Amino acid sequence: MKTLISKQLDEYTEQHTSAELPVLARLNRETNLKRGDAVMLSGHLQGSFLQMMSHMIQPKCILEIGTFTGYSAICLAQGLQEDGRLHTIEIDEELQDMATAYIAEAGLNEIIIQHTGSAIDIIPGLDELFDIVFIDADKSNYERYYDLVFDKVPVGGYIIADNVLYDGEVILPEDQQTKNARAIGSFNRKIKADNRIEHLLVPLRDGIMIARKISG
Ligand SMILES: C[S@@+](CC[C@H](N)C(=O)[O-])C[C@H]1O[C@@H](n2cnc3c(N)ncnc32)[C@H](O)[C@@H]1O
Repeated sequence: MKTLISKQLDEYTEQHTSAELPVLARLNRETNLKRGDAVMLSGHLQGSFLQMMSHMIQPKCILEIGTFTGYSAICLAQGLQEDGRLHTIEIDEELQDMATAYIAEAGLNEIIIQHTGSAIDIIPGLDELFDIVFIDADKSNYERYYDLVFDKVPVGGYIIADNVLYDGEVILPEDQQTKNARAIGSFNRKIKADNRIEHLLVPLRDGIMIARKISG
């Protein structure tokens, strides 16, 4: 993944951000040691950003689409209200044990509810209102996820989506983009055209879209 700022500035930014929680540092390390696809993990800077947003919003309920090894779920859960909960969905069964172990180590096993299966099938059955939805799974389904969760977010709630710059590919001519980049481009246009939300594309890491629902 391209860094949008120089490697040195990236390091400086991390050094001047509160230290990674020890449990997150261990999870980050183990994911990098064991998984060839560890680049998918949010990491220290983006994780801190999500954690800070969650503290600012003080959500009662969060939905995450795409658990991976549990890093961003643990970050987002930090800002939950005392009796709050976070639902997280992951299609890959093999990831479940590692995520469960770290969620328990973080003391969040009664707060984070893990669902295994396709988010497309699971979301309609979740009978909750989500103050934050974090979309971070298969890019080709971002628009479907947005449509599926929209009515489950109250006015004033947030839908946050990762990888919306897709390694810088979104600005290439469409015939030079991968299928995923085209899907992300289409998602970004859908967000831009939706007058029920206010939105901000933050050029952090691979790009984070923050949409705040202003009407139903
Ligand atoms: C980018 S990773 C998530 C990273 C994680 N949120 C973090 O920041 O550490 C995307 C995850 O979405 C999962 N995924 C892909 N398609 C899915 C689907 N249809 N339903 C649920 N999860 C899916 C993948 O298996 C992968 O673990």
